[in-house]
Amino acid sequence: MEKTLSIIKPDATTRNITGKVNAMIEDAGLRIVAQKLICLTTAQAEKFYQEHKDKAFFTNLVDFMTSAPVIVQVLAGENAVSLYRKIMGATNPAVAEEGTIRKTFALSIDKNTVHGSDSPESAKREIGFFFSETEICE
Ligand code: CMP
Repeated sequence: MEKTLSIIKPDATTRNITGKVNAMIEDAGLRIVAQKLICLTTAQAEKFYQEHKDKAFFTNLVDFMTSAPVIVQVLAGENAVSLYRKIMGATNPAVAEEGTIRKTFALSIDKNTVHGSDSPESAKREIGFFFSETEICE
């Protein structure tokens, strides 16, 4: 059993489609073992996305992620990291596969509906960023 960190982004919370995203997650066999709706501060968003701090899109990314509530969640399942990346689809929805979350809901590469950890190591760090062990119910 593996765990991954998911963020349902502001473009989804503002369009009231978080339930539809969760349905796709659960239909894929992943279990939501922790979940909370939060408003990220600028400091939190900058720290969470620190690996992108030198990228041209960093300021836009932080502004967008702090523009409205997000849902942070821990997903559990077999190969959860790679399974979630598969059902999210490509970062850019224009090239995402049919049937993926981003192809179905994302508006652009910035407003791309969901984030998922890119490796088990990132998942550990990202889960720890938002959740204490007692908040995760397996
Ligand atoms: P996410 O998985 O949350 O990780 C970083 C985010 O930066 C990414 O999804 C995109 O929403 C956003 N982003 C904006 N422009 C780019 C880009 N050119 N390449 C990668 N990510 C980008």
